[in-house]
Amino acid sequence: MTSRNGKVAVIGAGFYGSTTAQRLAEYDIFDEVVLTDIIEGRPEGLALDMNQSRPIEGFETKVTGQTTGPAGEGYEVLAGSGIVIITAGLPRKPGMSRMDLIETNAKIVRNVVENVVKYAPDAVLIVVSNPLDEMTALAAKVSGFPSGRVLGQAGMLDTARFSYFVAEKLGVPVGSVQTLTLGSHGDTMVPVPSACTVDSKPLYGLLDAAEVEQLVTRTRGGGGEIVGLLKTGSAYYAPSAAAARMARAVASDSGAVMPVCAWVDGQYGISGVYLGVEAEIGAGGVRRVVERELTPSELADLRTAAEAVRAKQSDVASL
Ligand code: LAC
Repeated sequence: MTSRNGKVAVIGAGFYGSTTAQRLAEYDIFDEVVLTDIIEGRPEGLALDMNQSRPIEGFETKVTGQTTGPAGEGYEVLAGSGIVIITAGLPRKPGMSRMDLIETNAKIVRNVVENVVKYAPDAVLIVVSNPLDEMTALAAKVSGFPSGRVLGQAGMLDTARFSYFVAEKLGVPVGSVQTLTLGSHGDTMVPVPSACTVDSKPLYGLLDAAEVEQLVTRTRGGGGEIVGLLKTGSAYYAPSAAAARMARAVASDSGAVMPVCAWVDGQYGISGVYLGVEAEIGAGGVRRVVERELTPSELADLRTAAEAVRAKQSDVASL
């Protein structure tokens, strides 16, 4: 029998939030998954629907839906949550960059975090709202939580996209492909081909530089490609898979090393910024940032990304 424990909350019951809640519930490792939204009835309706899938899928984790109000009504449902995933905010429309969302989503994320702090002061915060690196920094600032207890989801998703593109190009199973992206979840994303392998063989031996560059470019625009196809809303299957796996690593104190948006304090010669890096994830969030050897050009790109993100993160503090 599976042993279940703990409570995880997902703020925002759009496609990203609701698929994340569904994945977490289907893991069947938590006592309870909470889903909230400001749209009256939506989280309650989705929770009821997910609970009705339990007899079919065979999981016992209970899903609780709760509408929240502008003055913080309903947020008491978060009490006792060990992990809170923040998906609240607007998604992109075709042609928009993630950065175009910064002012609107900063207000939303600030309000959410204030309420999370009130009712779940010991939680690990996993931020997925865009622009990701800036919203993670804002959540850390507003919460006042230790920096390791606030992390953002982006590298897992960008890396998964890169791996998929490599697998598709070479016609190999996705499971044989290892890739990595660091940097920002945006224009200064830094795919790291030197760390990529297929069946443990270096990617550069299997594809030429121009082919790798094509996949890198597609990875950098991976979210935008889907926004362009969907026309309303952005991606959510791969993003929710990434966020749910991060929460699972926290819940099980796994020590897994994952690319995430984490507080960087000296690694790669970069300090004082939330940035996409590899980190060991455990019960308290980020245990430590894991530094690896990069080529000089990858390192230069990562430092450029850090400076771009740093400038925006200081703007966002005042929003
Ligand atoms: C994406 C959004 C969720 O990359 O940032 O699809």
